[in-house]
Amino acid sequence: MADKQSFYITTPIYYPSNKLHIGHSYTTVAADTVARFQRLKGKDVMFLTGMDEHGQKIQQKAAEAGKSPQDFVDEMAVGIKKLWQLLDISYDRFIRTTDKQHEEAVSKIFQKLWDKDAIYKGAYEGWYCTPCESFWTESQLKENKCPDCGGAVERTQEESYFFRLSQYGQPLLDYYAAHPDFLKPEASRNEMLRFIEQGLEDLAVSRTSFDWGVKVPFDPKHVIYVWIDALSNYITAMGYPDDADGDFARYWPADVHLMAKEIVRFHSIIWPAILMALDVPLPKHVYSHGWLLMNDSKMSKSKGNVVDPVVLAERYSVDAVRYFLLREVPFGLDGNFTNEALVERINSDLANDLGNLLSRTTAMVNKYFDGVLPETREAAPLDDELAELAAKSYEEVDRYLENMQFSYALAAIWRLISRANKYIDETEPWKLGKDRAAAARLAAVLGNLCETLRVASVLLYPFLPQSSAAILTRLGQSAEVALENARFGLFSSPTPILAGSPLFPRLDLKTEIAWLDEQLEARAAAAAATGAVPATPALAPAAETAAAEAAVPEGVALIEYSDFSKLRLLVAQVTACERVKGADRLLKSTLDLGNGETRVVVSGIAESYAPEDLPGRQVILLENLKPRKIRGIESAGMLLCAEDSDGKLYLLGVDGKVSPGSAVS
Ligand code: MSP
Repeated sequence: MADKQSFYITTPIYYPSNKLHIGHSYTTVAADTVARFQRLKGKDVMFLTGMDEHGQKIQQKAAEAGKSPQDFVDEMAVGIKKLWQLLDISYDRFIRTTDKQHEEAVSKIFQKLWDKDAIYKGAYEGWYCTPCESFWTESQLKENKCPDCGGAVERTQEESYFFRLSQYGQPLLDYYAAHPDFLKPEASRNEMLRFIEQGLEDLAVSRTSFDWGVKVPFDPKHVIYVWIDALSNYITAMGYPDDADGDFARYWPADVHLMAKEIVRFHSIIWPAILMALDVPLPKHVYSHGWLLMNDSKMSKSKGNVVDPVVLAERYSVDAVRYFLLREVPFGLDGNFTNEALVERINSDLANDLGNLLSRTTAMVNKYFDGVLPETREAAPLDDELAELAAKSYEEVDRYLENMQFSYALAAIWRLISRANKYIDETEPWKLGKDRAAAARLAAVLGNLCETLRVASVLLYPFLPQSSAAILTRLGQSAEVALENARFGLFSSPTPILAGSPLFPRLDLKTEIAWLDEQLEARAAAAAATGAVPATPALAPAAETAAAEAAVPEGVALIEYSDFSKLRLLVAQVTACERVKGADRLLKSTLDLGNGETRVVVSGIAESYAPEDLPGRQVILLENLKPRKIRGIESAGMLLCAEDSDGKLYLLGVDGKVSPGSAVS
């Protein structure tokens, strides 16, 4: 192990105040995918997750449930670990802030900060948000509510210890300047820089109004602020401070702390400042992602509008849930969770593209060769295209996953899968099957399809571990995945290929939507019966009020922001453009979408533009329009144009040069 390069990734440690929902699963599945991928790359991976079990909120919840806080969190821990097991989360360590070793380490950390004069005693007066466990000054409140969750805040006045956060503004700015990649994405980095530049205030880091937490070692009527306790988990789980030569030396500094944007401030300002005060190196990267929204509101346990990952995984399979989470929304942006989108993704990508490729291939190997492909194969130039795309897909997945671009990585794998489906149409194996003399060519065609599926299953493994193993087994391959197998030329078929049932059965959209709506109603009814916050009928279409409808011209439907946010609009740069043969109105444009991603789009603009007008121009692309074949060319997206009264089209652009791939909103 010592010669392996380490890779340490963390999720937030979650509050066990309620059952975890699909939003928590989102971060954890993302971290799991990275951890699995880095293990494939041969890294010595440490993947840490866990539970944030102290604090006023947990104490209150336990009291409401008539339990001691410890019993309450112990029970929650069982459910949370079960959820991660269900979702195939391959964590290496699970920390609970009530672990003895962690509590002792937090106490020592606080003592160290005190000894270094990074903490002093004072009096606190301000506003406290219990669900967020956050202190706020008057000016930080938004309409007298918590600026993070919008909930009620309580006036708080108590003696408190303070961390000298105000002294870390300049060191943090210097650190950000020297490490441009420390906090990603760019929007988070800019927001945090602005926050630091406004001036940091010292932070109250102890409470006296409740006692469920780690006591201040030299003043036990104070409990250490839950965020100091929680953030420390990233180093205490590695043995800090006592066992600094063991895992701490091996894994720290962490390669990436992953979390959603509402807690990025804690991870990119408070946590680095504490580490600076402790003379401990800072994590290499902090990556904040967007929210999964329902009806444009963040899913939140305190609001009650949650989607249960267990229900979804049990009905649609774990891999369908993992796929949807990572494919649907580009990581870093907010995205709406809708049942329609879930079912459509399962049908189009998993059942149609991937599932059909596997079914068609295995069925044909069985039909024409009784499940065993002969070794005599006749290659053709077309085959190279598939092999080259497979090699390129591996490079793309690697590049995208190194940058947490899960949806792009999956899109790259799906380009390979789609290419293979197209290869079936091009090679027409059913015709070859009728001609005895074409047996060697047929064997080559089916062999190439098996190769593609084998490579795809290696690339899919970090995302969909169960499906990856299922595909390899169906193809008679070892289910042991190795990254060096992600290329053509390694397929052998000593054991027969199995036809088998569909990997992802097709779903009936109407039936599923009705079923999912029922689940939500049942949840709302249960919540009403227990007096809890009812679940938002999150996935039902938003009601349009009569007043709102009256404000728009007849025949024009009012849309919700959630409708608009389904459109993924991007700035793209045209790199090449040509006429489509035999079609006077069509131009085929190749677009650069940044990050090495390219697109081909066919547009009906040839009467307004000549092909040579376009290269170099920046255009606006509707990126998530379902791909369509136009004159045999797969067109993935649409260029936006304004149409003059005489029918001339004008491509939309941007007012200045921006990076390709920039979002339009
Ligand atoms: N206990 C703190 C974290 C301490 S880490 C030192 C906490 N816990 S939490 O249970 O509220 O989890 C918040 C995190 O859960 C988010 O930052 C994100 O990783 C994940 N998510 C919860 N809801 C989410 C969405 N709706 N969408 C995306 N991520 C979500 O904060």
